[in-house]
Amino acid sequence: MRHRLLGELSREKVLVSPSVLASDFSCLGEEVKRVESGGCDMLHLDIMDGHFVPNLTFGPGVVSSLRKGTGLLFDTHLMLTNPLSYVKAFAEAGSDLITFHVESEDDPREVVDAIRGQGCSVGISVKPGTSAKVLEQYIELVDMVLVMTVEPGFGGQSFMAEMIPKVAEIAAMFREKNPRGLIEVDGGIDARTAPEIIRAGAGVLVAGTAVFRAKEGAAEAIRVLHSYSELLPAR
Ligand code: DX5
Ligand code: ZN
Repeated sequence: MRHRLLGELSREKVLVSPSVLASDFSCLGEEVKRVESGGCDMLHLDIMDGHFVPNLTFGPGVVSSLRKGTGLLFDTHLMLTNPLSYVKAFAEAGSDLITFHVESEDDPREVVDAIRGQGCSVGISVKPGTSAKVLEQYIELVDMVLVMTVEPGFGGQSFMAEMIPKVAEIAAMFREKNPRGLIEVDGGIDARTAPEIIRAGAGVLVAGTAVFRAKEGAAEAIRVLHSYSELLPAR
């Protein structure tokens, strides 16, 4: 399978990745169409194993079904104790960008190689309690760092502003060692919390509740997040 790569997307704007966790699962395909026609840049798929995080979502079968209905870049966030065992299945199901947690039990270098081996873009994620320092040794190997701005496991939680300096620290690492690298933030991101974290260097915004449950509609919520593109620091 040929995968879409993160490098193909525009660097000029903030990229919006709606998390389907906040969508209506009884009509998932329609929900994806709704955010795609609303102008999102990719689709965030939260994969939880009930072990790494205390919740369960869905597996490669659902990803593969969704793949048939959209050309969006699939941004797959693996919240799994053993990501290595599942990289191939998610890549074959149609994931384009695969992000795993540095706190998982597998050797991060092996997971990076497995994701690359599938022809996908690579993301590495840190939970709120994990220091940016642990990423130093991996920063040149990855396309993206996903900074969790809530404890992973559930949608609809409050944004942790304490993560803003961490984003700035990772942005400095990328500038020095891997200028093409992107930072994604995930958890409690909305029109109110996005500006400051974009200024710190976040170029990819995951938004579940703020997009899928927006009273003003998904397209308007996405438009507002895109309008903050001018806040992106010069790269
Ligand atoms: C949480 C997930 C998030 C979640 C975000 O573990 O990784 O992607 O869906 O949801 P909101 O945007 O509602 O905080
Ligand atoms: Zn996520």
